[in-house]
Amino acid sequence: MEPIKRILNLQIKSALSAITGIADCNANVVTASKLEFGDYQANGVMAIAKQLKQNPREMAESVIAQLEQDKSDLVESFEVAGPGFINIRLNSKAMLSRANTALSNPDTLISTAENPQTIVVDYSSPNLAKEMHVGHLRGTIIGDSLVRVLLKNGNTVIRQNHVGDWGTQFGMLIAHLQEIQRQKANQLPQELSDLEEFYRSAKERFDSDEEFANTARQSVVKLQSGDSEHNQVWEQFIEESLAHCETIYDKLNVTLTRADLDAESRYNDDLENIVTILKSKNLLSKSDGATVVFLSEFVGKDGSLLPVIIQKSDGGYLYSTTDLAAIRLRSGEWNVDRSLYVVDVRQSLHFQQVFAVAKKAGIASERISLEHIAYGTMMGNDGKPFKTRSGDIVKLVDLLNESVRRAYDLVSEKNPDLDESARQHIAEKIGIASVKYADLSKNRTSDYVFDWSTMLSFEGNTAPYLMYAYARIKSILRKDEAQGLHTSIQSISEPEERLLLLKILQLDEVVQAVADECFPNQLCSYLYELAGLFMRFYEVCPILKANGTVKNSRLALAALTADALHVGLDLLGIETLEKM
Ligand code: ARG
Repeated sequence: MEPIKRILNLQIKSALSAITGIADCNANVVTASKLEFGDYQANGVMAIAKQLKQNPREMAESVIAQLEQDKSDLVESFEVAGPGFINIRLNSKAMLSRANTALSNPDTLISTAENPQTIVVDYSSPNLAKEMHVGHLRGTIIGDSLVRVLLKNGNTVIRQNHVGDWGTQFGMLIAHLQEIQRQKANQLPQELSDLEEFYRSAKERFDSDEEFANTARQSVVKLQSGDSEHNQVWEQFIEESLAHCETIYDKLNVTLTRADLDAESRYNDDLENIVTILKSKNLLSKSDGATVVFLSEFVGKDGSLLPVIIQKSDGGYLYSTTDLAAIRLRSGEWNVDRSLYVVDVRQSLHFQQVFAVAKKAGIASERISLEHIAYGTMMGNDGKPFKTRSGDIVKLVDLLNESVRRAYDLVSEKNPDLDESARQHIAEKIGIASVKYADLSKNRTSDYVFDWSTMLSFEGNTAPYLMYAYARIKSILRKDEAQGLHTSIQSISEPEERLLLLKILQLDEVVQAVADECFPNQLCSYLYELAGLFMRFYEVCPILKANGTVKNSRLALAALTADALHVGLDLLGIETLEKM
C-alpha cells in the first residue's frame, strides 16, 4: 500500500499544478495540528499563492473544486481553513480497508520507498586497540536501527564497520603481546581477556621502558611493511578484539557480522592512489613537511586555512586519507546512492573536510549523497561525560550487564511468583531494550543524560512501557475464547477507535521519514503515542465485555495495534515479550 501522506501529496500537487500551471508544486501535507482540523492538512497553497500574488483562500477553493472532480475513495472531505490551509478528513471505509489488508499481512504496514536506493551505513566502527566502551553505544545502536529501517523500506543496504586496526598503537600492542608470548610458549595469553587492562599495561611499558618503546616503534614499521611474523601477531590480536566486539553485538541484538568489516587496513594499498588523484587535480600543498589539501571554505579561528592532512612528513597516512579511499570504493566501485556515517558529532569537521575534498577531486561522484549522521555524548547525572565513580571509562559489556541486573531486581520485585528462568529471560530482554531505547528515543544530535531510573521505568517514553503495552494487548487477545477469529475491523465509530486506527496507519509515513532524515527518535515518539492511544481506547471502549461483532472488531483493532508496535520496535532492534 502507498503511504496515505504520499497519496495526498500527489493528489493535491497535481490539482495545484492544473490550476497554476506550475509543474513542481509542493502540497506540503502534514498530520493535522489539531483534532478539529481533520486528519491531515495541506499547507502548500499559501506559498504558491504568494508567489503568484493571488488570494490564497480563493486558490485553495479552486484546488478543492479541482480535487472534487475525481475524488479518490481515500478522502471523505476537503475544506478550506484559515488563511488558505486545506483540511483533509479521510474516509473511514478506506481506512478500514487498509487496516484489514494489514491485519492479514502485517508486512504491508510499511511500504517500499518510491525510489529504492543502494545505501552504505558506516557505523559502530570501534578502535580495535581497546575494548568497546560507552562511547560506542550510540553509534552502534542508532546505526543498526537505521539499517533495519532502510532495509524494511526496500533499499539495498551495505553495512560497514570501519574499525580502527592500523596505526601506532598497534606497534605497542604487538610488542607487548610478543613479549608475553615469549614467556608463555606462544600461547594466546590470558591477559587478552581484558583488552583494556592489556592496553594499559602495554602503555605502561611503552612510557617507562625506552627499549620497549623502540621495539614498539619498529613493530609498526614492520607491520606496515608486511613482515609476516608481525602480521601474524597483529592478526591474533585483531581476532581477539573482534571477538570482544561480537560478544557485545550479540548481547545488543545488533546485526553486524564479520562480513561487514571495513577495517582501515583494507585501504593500505589504495592510499598512494589517493595522493596521485589529488595531485593530478592540483589540490595538494606542503605544510610543515606534510602533504595537505587546503580548501577555502575551511578557515580556522585566526583566519588561516585549515589543512586536511593526507600524508605526514615521515610518509605515514592518516584517518582522512583512509576515508577518502573508502569513498572511492563506495562511490566509484559500488556506485551507491547514499553513504551514511553514524559517528560522534565531534568528528563533524573531519567529515565536512573529507566530503568536500572527495567531491572536489571527483573521488565522490556528483550523485552520491555523503551524510554525517552525527550524535552527541552520553552524559552522567553530574552533567559530565559518563564515567565510573572513580572516573574511569565504562566498558560497554559492564554497562549492559548492570542493566540486566537492575532489570532482574525490578522484575523480581514486580513479579515475585515468576520462576527463576522466566525472570532471567525477561530481565535480559528488558535490560538490553531499556539501554537501547533510552538512546534511540533522544534526538541524536544532542548530548543526553544516561539515567538508570528513567530508562527502566514502566511509565513514560521507555522500553519497559512499550514492551508492557505490547504484552498487555497480547494478554487481552489470549483471554478471548474464540482466539484468532478477530480477523477484521468492522467499525471505527467511536472517536478513540478512529484515532487509534489512524495512528496505526501512519506508521508507514513515520518510517519513511526516519529513512530520509535518520532520526530514530521520531519512531520512538510515534510508538509512545500509539501505545497511549491504545490505553485510551482500552479505557473507553470495552473489548472483552462488548458483544458479537463489536467485540471481534475491537479485538482485531487491538491485534493490529500489537502488530504495529511489534514492527516498530523491531525496526529499533528491540525484542518484544509475549508475557511480562
Ligand atoms: N574508528 C573511528 C573512531 O573510533 C570511527 C570511524 C568512523 N567511520 C569512518 N568512516 N571514519 O573514532
